[in-house]
Amino acid sequence: MSRGMTLTILTGALLMNTLAQTGATPQLGSTTKKSFGKTPGGQPVDLYVLTNKSGAEAAITNYGVAVVSLKVPDRSGKLADVVLGYDTADGYVNDKSYFGALVGRYGNRIGHAQFVLDGKTYTLAKNNGENSLHGGIAGFNKALWTARMLPAKDGQSLELSYLSKDGEEGFPGDLKVTVTYTLTDANALKIDYSATTEKKTVVNLTNHSYFNLAGQGAGDILGHLLTIQADKFTPVDSGLIPTGELRDVRGTPFDFRKSTAIGARIDRDEEQLKLGGGYDHNFVLRRSAGVGESLAARVVEPASGRVLEVWTTEPGVQFYTGNFLDGKTVGKGGTTYPKRSAFCLETQHFPDSPNQPKFPSAVLNPGDRYHTITTYKFSTEK
Ligand code: GLA
Repeated sequence: MSRGMTLTILTGALLMNTLAQTGATPQLGSTTKKSFGKTPGGQPVDLYVLTNKSGAEAAITNYGVAVVSLKVPDRSGKLADVVLGYDTADGYVNDKSYFGALVGRYGNRIGHAQFVLDGKTYTLAKNNGENSLHGGIAGFNKALWTARMLPAKDGQSLELSYLSKDGEEGFPGDLKVTVTYTLTDANALKIDYSATTEKKTVVNLTNHSYFNLAGQGAGDILGHLLTIQADKFTPVDSGLIPTGELRDVRGTPFDFRKSTAIGARIDRDEEQLKLGGGYDHNFVLRRSAGVGESLAARVVEPASGRVLEVWTTEPGVQFYTGNFLDGKTVGKGGTTYPKRSAFCLETQHFPDSPNQPKFPSAVLNPGDRYHTITTYKFSTEK
């Protein structure tokens, strides 16, 4: 090899490296880091762009671990960004909808914003009527996490960690949380959550991505076809707290055992739909035997052919149809997001489990490890 050739190769490698650092041209099978703004306290916030070998891309910020964008192909290979979000960290600082966020310490609601553990009552902020929602006033979605790019054999991985202090938002025990997001080369976004605690506490972590498989900003999601692997759901009261009943979906608008358009029954004159302003309910998942992930839900967007499958180790999934979106929030590229322009499938333990002895327990003891996995798998069909 001549000296000239060696130099050219070296310069090429240097150039690629520089591009990778500035994020100017995402290379297939790479992760790049760029600036995303600042926290209100002036700390720098980063955006990590994970690009897999087939060109799909997930951008994740260390502010609230929000999935900022997720670009996946349609049936002809054309990429579209299928999640709602904001262009800069400021959007996430001001966000009230939990776009893409990592929700904790307790995702979903805790009734009357309190619970009892070993005879001691813990009081949380009432940030949703009488109740606590999504970890409180400054939940995990408002924290700056420590990010680390990890080597992964089947894709691109980002590990994020956070120490939630004893007493933060009223919850007991120092809680060490680590979540790993992997964008696989097979177009799946896998989220591995783990946590350990110093004191007995409750934990329920989820991701709050708002999906629109036609592309974010492309109208409503009422024509998306949905299947949920659930024979029962947990009906709620007017504060959206489960009554404790596990109700059969048979003969109700909550029967998604066969693929049905999200909008087919959403405006029916039915008590539970009225309470939720549409779907905003926890479904009791039909879990396969064993310890791994089971299929929870499948969504098809007929025009683009995009398919989303949600797989999880969790017992429940909150199906939410963006009923509180009002078209006033300005999102990516100036897009606004009207009511029902996205849906969420938040894998979880059931809402209000700390006060519902019959629900699967969300208690974490010192010495034990909280560990759950949820995978969003993207594909297409004809
Ligand atoms: C969850 C809740 C909804 C709503 C959204 C955030 O899905 O169940 O009621 O609070 O989060 O807007």
